[in-house]
Amino acid sequence: MDACRGRFEGHVALVVLLLSVSACKRDTVEGTAGPGSPGRRIALLLPESKTARYESHDRPLFERKVKALCPECEVLYANADQDAARQQAQAEAALTNGATVLVLDPVDSASASAIVARAKQSRVPVISYDRLVMNADVDYYISFDNEKVGRLQAQALVDRLRADPRPQGALVVIHGAPTDNNARLFKAGARSVLGASGLRVGAEYDTPDWSPDKAQRQMEQALTAMGKAGIVGVYAANDGTAGGAIAAMKAAGVAPLPPVTGQDAELAAIQRIVAGEQYMTVYKAIRPEAEAAAELAVALARGRPPAPGLVTGKVNNGRKDVDSILLTPVAVTRENVKDTVVADGFWKPEQICAGAYQQACATARLP
Ligand code: BGC
Repeated sequence: MDACRGRFEGHVALVVLLLSVSACKRDTVEGTAGPGSPGRRIALLLPESKTARYESHDRPLFERKVKALCPECEVLYANADQDAARQQAQAEAALTNGATVLVLDPVDSASASAIVARAKQSRVPVISYDRLVMNADVDYYISFDNEKVGRLQAQALVDRLRADPRPQGALVVIHGAPTDNNARLFKAGARSVLGASGLRVGAEYDTPDWSPDKAQRQMEQALTAMGKAGIVGVYAANDGTAGGAIAAMKAAGVAPLPPVTGQDAELAAIQRIVAGEQYMTVYKAIRPEAEAAAELAVALARGRPPAPGLVTGKVNNGRKDVDSILLTPVAVTRENVKDTVVADGFWKPEQICAGAYQQACATARLP
């Protein structure tokens, strides 16, 4: 809905803005099937849809687990499409519609503290999902060891370049959105490894909104500045930004492509890995993440404590030590696609090997 994102100036425009904000608010949360008792409404607020994981894994896995654990519960779902103000409106709409628990993956880890404060006014607990809301009274945090994600990406790149050195040139480093606390952690992990590697960084960018298109433009700039032959490897913080970087290099005729990292084990990235266009990704098993969030949310909706053993640690968000569950990420290259994402049922061989990827799959001994 463009009007939700538009900028308005002047008097008449203000009226239009107020009308459009209330229109946005009205249709920003969707309920799932089932009557849902008013006491058992759980809001799932996800940050964006350009990254495939949210609609392909997080949402369906969360909704399915809530239904299995609590048939009378209803999930109110909204996706903010990278817009922090829109997410705030979606959270308010969920609270107005009777949500008794918020499961919040914030667009902006700092400004989302206002969402938490608003939920707390209504005595609604908040689970910080995948990204930590900073300086806020969140009740639980579920994510992965995100510094380790950055270290795995950078280590894979360094090892690859040691095994197969390129004569000259430097790295291009493409981080995620500066508003995402995870992006800060991936960056810290990656820099700790790259800094000690002796490899030179020729260009380094943050990618607003994690937008693949913006990553593509950044890569075009790097190609102009460093030259087609001047790039030895690309650290890309996730598969969307990796896809943008690879598209820019292919359009510029870079061949062979240098090794490129990623994250999320998106289907398109696994296909690029099988075809030799992307070197690696980081597989984060979304099922245990989404299902633990669902278990916690159902317990909170019923006013009960989480099952013993579910919460395993604490992470400080600047305001408190938040009870946390942190899962372990895994590096994936062509060599272990079969033993990781396929063995885990994250993608089926027939999904990976569809159409143009049949031949590449045969070479990679898939299925
Ligand atoms: C998530 C990644 C995702 C990125 C962009 C991060 O917070 O942990 O899995 O690729 O956001 O949405």
